[in-house]
Amino acid sequence: MTSVVETVVATVRAVQAALLVVTGLQLTGYMWPPSATVSNGATYDFIIVGAGSAGSVIANRLSEEPSLKILLIEAGGDPPIESVLPGIFPTIPNSAYDYNITSENDGYTSQNLKNGVAGLTAGKMLGGSSSLHHMIHVRGNPNDYEKWAQAANDEAWNYWNLLEYFIKSEKVEDENILAVEGTQYVGTDGYLRLTKQPSEDNAPIFAAFNELGHEIVLNSNNPFFTVGISEPLLNIADGLRQSAAEAYLRPIADRSNFHLLKNTQVTKVLFDDSNNAYGVEAITADGETITINAHLEVILTAGALITPQLLMLSGVGPREHLESYNIPVISDLPVGKNLQDHIPAIVVHTLAPGEPVTAPANPHLFPVPTTTAYSALDMNQAYPDYQTINLIFPPDSTALIQFCSLVFAYKDEICQGFFDGGSGKSTLFTVHNILYAESRGEVLLRSANPTDAPIVKHGIYSNETDLHNMALYLQHFSRIVNTTAFRDMGSELVELDLPECNNLERNTYDYWRCYALNLSATMWHYSSTSSMGPVLDSNLRVKGVQRLRVADASAMPNPTSGNINAAVVVLAEKAADLIKITYGPSPRSQ
Ligand SMILES: Cc1cc2nc3c(=O)[nH]c(=O)nc-3n(C[C@H](O)[C@H](O)[C@H](O)COP(=O)(O)OP(=O)(O)OC[C@H]3O[C@@H](n4cnc5c(N)ncnc54)[C@H](O)[C@@H]3O)c2cc1C
Ligand SMILES: *[C@@H]1O[C@H](CO)[C@@H](O)[C@H](O)[C@H]1NC(C)=O
Ligand SMILES: *[C@@H]1O[C@H](CO)[C@@H](O)[C@H](O)[C@H]1NC(C)=O
Ligand SMILES: *[C@@H]1O[C@H](CO)[C@@H](O)[C@H](O)[C@H]1NC(C)=O
Ligand SMILES: *[C@@H]1O[C@H](CO)[C@@H](O)[C@H](O)[C@H]1NC(C)=O
Repeated sequence: MTSVVETVVATVRAVQAALLVVTGLQLTGYMWPPSATVSNGATYDFIIVGAGSAGSVIANRLSEEPSLKILLIEAGGDPPIESVLPGIFPTIPNSAYDYNITSENDGYTSQNLKNGVAGLTAGKMLGGSSSLHHMIHVRGNPNDYEKWAQAANDEAWNYWNLLEYFIKSEKVEDENILAVEGTQYVGTDGYLRLTKQPSEDNAPIFAAFNELGHEIVLNSNNPFFTVGISEPLLNIADGLRQSAAEAYLRPIADRSNFHLLKNTQVTKVLFDDSNNAYGVEAITADGETITINAHLEVILTAGALITPQLLMLSGVGPREHLESYNIPVISDLPVGKNLQDHIPAIVVHTLAPGEPVTAPANPHLFPVPTTTAYSALDMNQAYPDYQTINLIFPPDSTALIQFCSLVFAYKDEICQGFFDGGSGKSTLFTVHNILYAESRGEVLLRSANPTDAPIVKHGIYSNETDLHNMALYLQHFSRIVNTTAFRDMGSELVELDLPECNNLERNTYDYWRCYALNLSATMWHYSSTSSMGPVLDSNLRVKGVQRLRVADASAMPNPTSGNINAAVVVLAEKAADLIKITYGPSPRSQ
C-alpha cells in the first residue's frame, strides 16, 4: 500500500518535473539582468564569484561607482517561478536549482533523515540560497557581533558599528513597526523589502508563550530585544520573494559598468608569482574554459560550502590536505575547518480539531501562519539559548508532509508519525534549534576536480555540550502543553515511534536527549568555513595573498542567533564599503 508520505513526495516530484518544462517558457526571464558576453582574456576591475545573498549586494554597491568595471559570475541561471512565488519553496530542494550537496554519514547524527545524511540545500541560481531560503529575516543579537569583533580583533564588526548597514540594507514596510519604533533603528530606504504576515491563528501560540514568560513583541529585530515572541519580518513584498537577486540585481540591470555572466562555473583563482590574485578560470555554459582578469581584486561569494572548496583548489588551504591532491600550496590556512550550523529538532503538537482546508493556497504568501520565539533557560539572560519557528498547519495537511519529507528530508516513518499523530486537528510544527553550538564540522576536497562536490563533515553534536543543552532546551519548551491555551485546546505532544527512545520515561532529560539525537538535521545555516581570524583579516582579505577577499557566510566567525541571511547581507554591505575605502572613488584616475 502506498503511504500518504509516498504519495505527497511522488506528487511533488511530478510537480518539479512539470515546473522544469515550464522553465522552457522563461516566465521569469524578463525579471533578471541578461547575461553578458565575456570573452577569454577579458579584464574587469573586480570579479565577484557567486551571485548569491552576498555577491548580489557587493555587485550592486561596487557598480554604484561608474568608473569601476564589475563582473559578477554565477554558476546557475535565472530563478524559476517556484523561487519567485514565496509559497511553494518545498518544491526546490533536490531540483536543478539545488547543488544537492549532502553531509557524510557519520553513523551517529541525522540517522532519521533520508539515507542517514543531511541534505545541505544550497541555491544554484541568481540570488543563490536567498532564492530558495525560507525568507525569515533576523538580525540576531548584539552579543553575536561582539564575538565577530573579538574574532576579527576589530570593533568595526560589533553590532553598534554595523547598525548603519542593517539600516542601509532594509526597507521595512510594516506600518505597525514604523508607527511604534520610528526609524532610529529600523531601515526604511534599503533594497531589501520586508513585510509581516499577521494571522489570527497565531493567537493561542502567543498566549501560550506569554504564559511561559515571553513578551509578545512587534519587532524581534529591535536591538534591545533579548527573548520573546513575534511574527517575523519576511523577505516578501507584493507577493514576490525578495531574494538578493530581486532586491539587489534586478534594479541595476541597466548599469553599463556591471556585467553578469550566468551559467558559468569558476574553477580556480589565479595567482601570479607574488601571490597576487589576478583573475579566475571558469567553465562557460558552452563548456569552454576561459580566463578572466581582475585588475584590482577577486571577491569570493560562492557560499560557505563552495568558497572553501574554491580556495583549496586554488592553493589556499591546509598544506597536508592540498599536497595530498598535488595542489601547490600558496597560503597554508585552516580553510574549511570551523564549519558551524544551528542544530534543529522538529517537535509537533496538536492544536484545535477542525476540517481539512480545501481552498487552494495562495502561492504569493508565506505558506502557513508563523511565529518565531527566542527563549533562554534563564529568561533574564541578555541573549537567547534557543529559537523556535512555530508553523501552524491545518488539519490533515499535506503541506506538513512537504516540510517534513522534502524540506527537512526526514525518513517516511517520521513524517508519517507526525501526520497520523495530528489527524483531524491543526498542528503546531515547531522547528526547535540551538543557537550557540560548540560543535564544528569541516569542508574538504573530494578530489582536485572542481566539478566534484566537496566532502562535508557536518559535525553536529560532535561536542557533547550541544546534545546536553538541546535536551535541556527541548524539556524547557515542552512545558507549553501545560499552558492554559494549550490545555483549552486539548493540545498534546505528537509522540513518534523512536525504538531507541521508547523505553525512556516521557518528558525527562534522558527522553529529550534521545529525541534530540534522533531528530537531528540541518538548519542550512552553514558558515564560518573561511572566517575572520583564522583565514581572513578584519578587512576580509585572505591571509598570505593579495587582492583576494571572501565576503559570504564563510567569512563570519560564528553564525548569528537566528536565521543568518540578514547577517550575510550586512557583512556584504560592509565588505563593499571596505573595498570602496581601499580604492577611493576613482582608482583609475589615481
Ligand atoms: C533551505 C534553506 C532555508 C533557509 N532559510 C533561511 C531563512 O528563512 N532566513 C534566513 O535568514 N536564512 C535562511 N537560510 C540561510 C541563508 O539563505 C544563507 O545563509 C545565505 O543565503 C548564504 O548566502 P551566501 O552569499 O553565503 O551564499 P549563497 O546565497 O548560497 O550564494 C552562493 C552563490 O554562489 C554561486 N556559486 C557557487 N559556486 C560557484 C562557482 N564555482 N562559480 C560561480 N558561482 C558559484 C551559487 O550558485 C550561488 O548563487 C536558509 C538556507 C537554506 C539553504
Ligand atoms: C539535484 O538532484 C535532482 C534530482 O536528482 C536533479 O534533477 C538535479 O539536476 C540536481 N541538481 C544539480 C545542480 O545537479
Ligand atoms: C566542547 O565545548 C566545550 C565548551 O565550549 C569546550 O570546553 C570543549 O573543549 C569542547 N569539546 C570538544 C571535544 O571540542
Ligand atoms: C504538565 O503538568 C502535569 C501535572 O502537573 C505534570 O505531571 C507534567 O509533567 C507536565 N508536563 C510537562 C510537559 O511539563
Ligand atoms: C536515537 O537515540 C539513541 C540514544 O541516544 C541512539 O542510540 C540511537 O542511535 C538514535 N537513533 C537514531 C535513528 O538516531
